[in-house]
Amino acid sequence: MTGINSTRVAIVTGAGQGIGRAIAHRLARDGFRLALADVSGNAKALDGVVTEVGKFGTKAISLPCDVRKKEDVDGLVAETAKELGQVNVMVANAGIAPTDSFMDIEPKFFDNLYEVNVRGVLFSYQAAARQMIAQGGGGKLIAACSVSGIGVGIHQTAYCSSKFAVRAINQGAALELGKYGITANVYCPGPVLTDMWKKIDDDFVTLDGKNSGGRTKELADLSPLGRCAEPEDIAKLVGFLAGPDSDFVNGQAMQCNGGAWLS
Ligand SMILES: NC(=O)c1ccc[n+]([C@@H]2O[C@H](COP(=O)([O-])OP(=O)(O)OC[C@H]3O[C@@H](n4cnc5c(N)ncnc54)[C@H](O)[C@@H]3O)[C@@H](O)[C@H]2O)c1
Repeated sequence: MTGINSTRVAIVTGAGQGIGRAIAHRLARDGFRLALADVSGNAKALDGVVTEVGKFGTKAISLPCDVRKKEDVDGLVAETAKELGQVNVMVANAGIAPTDSFMDIEPKFFDNLYEVNVRGVLFSYQAAARQMIAQGGGGKLIAACSVSGIGVGIHQTAYCSSKFAVRAINQGAALELGKYGITANVYCPGPVLTDMWKKIDDDFVTLDGKNSGGRTKELADLSPLGRCAEPEDIAKLVGFLAGPDSDFVNGQAMQCNGGAWLS
């Protein structure tokens, strides 16, 4: 494998399906060697993605990792450095998006959401940055945020607050790690047609009395492009953020929403 990224190594969490899977495909096509991680319950799907990206001629390994656990994330980075020699890019993509009704948000629900979406990104950034600093030569930290990290949508108060927190963690990382040549940026999709979104659409039937597919159509109609995103739309943005063309992009929250929300 040759190309601008051919000596570089990227980690993608939550890579067994959805946006993470599309990012793995994109980064493999761009020449990265890959460490793909997911919870052990998704190991079969993750191994499938490793096989799929093999067709691009790059080396990929799969590693179990629950991003709620700091020791898992530290182990993921250590194992990647051992097996692939270095870590140049961390894509902290893993996340969950349960819907809620504001008055019914319970402590356990809230804490689990923060464990995955917020602690997961913090641990992923810290572990990767530690390795990047030890290596020298900088690196790129990238995380899944959302348009929900910029403005709050109905029935997603807890989720949105977790994505606001992701944006804050990203900005803090950008401020403190720039001196090591490390940049930090988040991608902010609108609705993306994955299992996660399908479940959200289903929940709106119960929560808001919509027809099945109703929430999806409502948001597709908001975009001048008239559709929701496919995972590959988001992977293209992540390909930019992971590659050399984004070297002076830092601390940003980049929306990929088809023009549905303009600011
Ligand atoms: N789908 C959307 O509409 C949308 C919009 C904006 C942002 N996002 C964000 O993009 C990311 C990916 O979303 P998706 O749509 O592909 O979701 P998805 O549910 O299809 O995939 C999420 C992946 O994360 C993994 N995961 C969940 N908990 C984990 C944990 N504790 N440790 C490790 N892995 C874990 C899952 O096993 C799965 O492989 C998420 O962070 C999500 O919040 C999604």
